[in-house]
Amino acid sequence: MRAVQIDVHGGPEALVVREVPDPQCGEGQVLVRTVASTLNPVDWKTRAWDVGPALPATLGWDLAGVVVASGSPEFAVGDRVIAMSAQVATGRGTWAELVALPEHLLTPAPKSLALVEAATLPLAGTTAVQALDKLRLQRGDRLLVTGAAGAVGGLAVQLARQAGVEVDGLVSRPEHVEPVRELGAGTVTHLVSDLPERAYDAVFDTAGVDVTAALVEGGGYVSVSDEPLPDVPGAAKSYVQESAKDLAALVELVDAGRLRVRVAEYHPVSEVRTAHERFEAGGLSGKVVLLF
Ligand SMILES: NC(=O)c1ccc[n+]([C@@H]2O[C@H](COP(=O)([O-])OP(=O)(O)OC[C@H]3O[C@@H](n4cnc5c(N)ncnc54)[C@H](OP(=O)(O)O)[C@@H]3O)[C@@H](O)[C@H]2O)c1
Repeated sequence: MRAVQIDVHGGPEALVVREVPDPQCGEGQVLVRTVASTLNPVDWKTRAWDVGPALPATLGWDLAGVVVASGSPEFAVGDRVIAMSAQVATGRGTWAELVALPEHLLTPAPKSLALVEAATLPLAGTTAVQALDKLRLQRGDRLLVTGAAGAVGGLAVQLARQAGVEVDGLVSRPEHVEPVRELGAGTVTHLVSDLPERAYDAVFDTAGVDVTAALVEGGGYVSVSDEPLPDVPGAAKSYVQESAKDLAALVELVDAGRLRVRVAEYHPVSEVRTAHERFEAGGLSGKVVLLF
């Protein structure tokens, strides 16, 4: 089978599409024929930075595909599934034509989406769910999401709205204002200076921007960015954990028509280097999907 691997850390040229042995499907595992994955920031960081499992390594966290062999009573051949695999910690990359994963990582794919769209959900969606959980928001709270046009931010805006929270968004550029408003945000701006002072009960920072002046005293602050936390009492980082339960909750919302996914571009896996270049250039409104 083909897989996208790196032998060294570096630029997009470090990505190699090569033949590797097919994985075996052990007891308690499920073998999935990959239909699609997506690019997440962690993928280019793992490619470029000296982090992650021993090399050579297969990259990729998101998986959408069809079960082709099953060592689990929960999944049968032909099932459409999605999963998030914490590649950096476990070395189980999903950018391969066949992926063997422990059964507890898999979730039936949304019925209302094509698998190439469903691939956008696992990492970004699970991250948004877990970070919002940390903020313990109540109905009527005011939340500011930074990077609200991004993959995590865009899903967080929608999830918080579903929970009855008033959500505003900070984006990187004016053309992202309207798309984020369409996701349910109230006020959306690309200027930190436009944000009201001491107005938000909580901040979810996905962009690493200093918006502390907009937070009420004692407000909640959760970040998934690489930037150091600001000097806010109780501010916390959130690190996404593999969770089929959180993924299943997202699938339910998607199938109920209450959560939208957004795709910016599709690239065949043979063009994975171009996909990385495109993704790192930024400015996208939606995910970059890799097709297998
Ligand atoms: N800790 C964890 O477990 C975890 C999990 C998932 C993601 N993350 C991290 O969370 C971050 C977001 O991930 P993602 O998948 O949502 O990435 P993404 O899809 O690239 O979204 C990031 C968004 O932030 C915007 N942005 C950048 N600088 C900004 C600024 N100064 N003000 C407002 N918006 C700004 C970007 O706009 P442009 O495209 O115009 O630059 C983009 O829309 C990444 O750093 C990622 O590594 C962490």
